[in-house]
Amino acid sequence: MATYQATASAPVNIACIKYWGKRNTKLILPTNSSLSVTLDQDHLRSTTSSRADASFEKDRLWLNGKEEEIERDGRLWVCIDALRKWRQEMEQADSGLDKISAYHVHFASHNNFPTAAGLASSASGLAALVASLSHLYSLPQTPSQLSLVARQGSGSACRSLFGGYVAWRMGEKEDGSDSLAEEVASREHWPEMHALICVVSDAKKGTSSTSGMQRTVQTSPLLQHRIKEVVPGRMDDISKAIREKDFESFAKITMRDSNSFHAVCLDTEPPIFYLNDVSRSVIAVVEELNRAAGKPIAAYTFDAGPNAVIYTLEENMPKVLNLINRFFPQEASFANPFKMDWQSAQVPE
Ligand code: ADP
Ligand code: DP6
Ligand code: CO
Repeated sequence: MATYQATASAPVNIACIKYWGKRNTKLILPTNSSLSVTLDQDHLRSTTSSRADASFEKDRLWLNGKEEEIERDGRLWVCIDALRKWRQEMEQADSGLDKISAYHVHFASHNNFPTAAGLASSASGLAALVASLSHLYSLPQTPSQLSLVARQGSGSACRSLFGGYVAWRMGEKEDGSDSLAEEVASREHWPEMHALICVVSDAKKGTSSTSGMQRTVQTSPLLQHRIKEVVPGRMDDISKAIREKDFESFAKITMRDSNSFHAVCLDTEPPIFYLNDVSRSVIAVVEELNRAAGKPIAAYTFDAGPNAVIYTLEENMPKVLNLINRFFPQEASFANPFKMDWQSAQVPE
């Protein structure tokens, strides 16, 4: 009997304009648009295999070797169900196709970097799952159409279906059909852009992105200012900076938006602290580097965790690496080999 199997891999994306807040928690519709860079190298990736078989009794997922529950109507379930329905429609339209939509699917996924530590594992993880199952089902849908599904698994995942510079447009429709990701510029457009990933801690975060942002929506007055007055202008400005390859503007907006996001976390009740002392030292070091250079030559940004991502142009990477290694000597201060395992992830390859 034929086996039906497919494997796909997706990289993480690190937002310059952060998504933080949902206006619809079921459909995962955000309170603001966001924009990210997909880190197109092998350091931070999820790889997911899916297999459909008549003998399987239910859908199951193993993440890094450990089984995770696929709850009915939960996020994973919603993604699988949406793709399965597309496959069913294809099978109904073409009687020559194998009826694999009737089979249950087993997924095995692996992240080659810390999971749930603020390095966007939910983004690469759900994007890889959607990509893998859409391969298995030979779906004809475009990356933007698939992003509508990945979004319902984890908001940030919709952006990982594209390489390069990607916007997630918040959309206006209540059914979410216009809340999708699209490419702003390809990786080839600005290949000098590099990212340095600074793993300050590989520990699982105390507050998941999902619960943290929900608490912010419920309690933070500052969030209202951010989503209405701040982010829309920044989306336009950073898109322009990317189109014009204007690193100074790109860096200023990226750093300010990271700080704005962590400010609304602090404005949440009870407050959420994702940054730690090392994170704040990284901010100080980069600010000092930029001051000494007389213009921004590096930009830090932090997701929901203490780990820093520093964007810089290739020509300035040696300077940034030097400085970081000087201030944060790896062997001396950190015992765990993954911690402070500074990796230069080039965007693009
Ligand atoms: P992160 O900052 O790493 O994105 P989140 O709190 O947003 O952290 O999400 C972490 C959760 O995402 C994990 O607990 C897991 O449920 C899910 N996840 C991570 N990686 C994968 C994967 N490869 N496949 C399926 N789900 C994943
Ligand atoms: C700080 O996409 O992980 O990384 O939609 O609830 O799964 P859910 O949240 P998630 O949130 C990401 C938040 C962020 C910013 C960003 O990636 O835009
Ligand atoms: Co996440």
